[in-house]
Amino acid sequence: MDTRPPSHIQHPQDTSELSDRLLGWYDVNARKLPWRIAPGSDQTPDPYHIWLSEIMLQQTTVVTVIPYFEKFLAKWPTLDDLAHEELDQILAAWAGLGYYARARNLHKCARYIIDEMQGIFPNNEQDLRQLPGIGPYTAAAIAAIAFGRQATVMDGNIERVMARMFNVTTPLPEAKPELKQWAERLTPPHRAGDYAQAVMDLGADICGPRILKCTGRCPWEKNCAANALSIADQLPARKPRKAKPTRRGYAFWAEYNGHLWLCKRPENGLLGGMMEVPSSDWLETPDWGAVPMPQIPIIANWTETPGMVRHSFTHFHLEIKVIRLELLDMIDLQEGNWFPFGQIDDLALPTIMLKIINHLKEPVLDL
Ligand code: ADE
Repeated sequence: MDTRPPSHIQHPQDTSELSDRLLGWYDVNARKLPWRIAPGSDQTPDPYHIWLSEIMLQQTTVVTVIPYFEKFLAKWPTLDDLAHEELDQILAAWAGLGYYARARNLHKCARYIIDEMQGIFPNNEQDLRQLPGIGPYTAAAIAAIAFGRQATVMDGNIERVMARMFNVTTPLPEAKPELKQWAERLTPPHRAGDYAQAVMDLGADICGPRILKCTGRCPWEKNCAANALSIADQLPARKPRKAKPTRRGYAFWAEYNGHLWLCKRPENGLLGGMMEVPSSDWLETPDWGAVPMPQIPIIANWTETPGMVRHSFTHFHLEIKVIRLELLDMIDLQEGNWFPFGQIDDLALPTIMLKIINHLKEPVLDL
């Protein structure tokens, strides 16, 4: 791996000049975010706020996270409040944010810190990594932002900035170690939290995946190899992605007298512990012709609702056809409960289930 600076661009000998320039840019341009202490402020960051925001920000945009972060702090102002809450309440407040394992780990982690660590967050990357739901990115972000540790935070935004600055043409994911080395070289020992957030803001506001605002705006414009070569928009290089497979299945809509039958998914696995409209197995198939007609879970008149519901998860697309069951009585199906329609909004329903409910109101007719 060649980690020498590219020779055709001028690099300050001392990387501190680059990091100081970025910090100067951040002093003026830092985004105002509810978990953030503004640069220059004499306040100290609250590790609970930083941890909560970083867990929410895993795979989720800042704009989506802000109202959830505010709602969580209003409901559970301290780590102790969160640790003593029921998991179901946390899952309900998390509904819509996706990747629900994060909410379960959030609760586990809060309980662990309160019960086993006297309510005190570990203050370094290595110890943070031992906690549920905290991987390398989150550990580095909390160590830097909450505790001022010289930790190098790496995510897709920062990989993009480094690939462009140093013209790293190796495709991702192979380029990751090389990009991390570059990022480590630039991480200064001082103002660690501000620096981590400055690189994040640079990646989000200036050095975007498609929109690049280099000219006259980027503090590293003159040092950026890809900018000098006019290839910034082509980096980072990526291996072509494998097409996501599609899984298909049937959901059973059992409604009686203003009530809907819902059950709880198993605690482990996709959407673990969330409420769902019961469904057949979701099978990976080339098309609907290969999907067997499912066993109807109860003797009832049934009709297939026209159209289907589509949803994409990280590793697969999902297509669901909905079978409406006409029950003659409020008979219980397999495990689950009857819920009055008016209560459904209060349940922790994941997005796919909300789509199924909306579909019953307005079927999407694109078979
Ligand atoms: N993305 C992940 N963590 C972030 C943070 N602390 N500020 C802004 N964007 C982020």
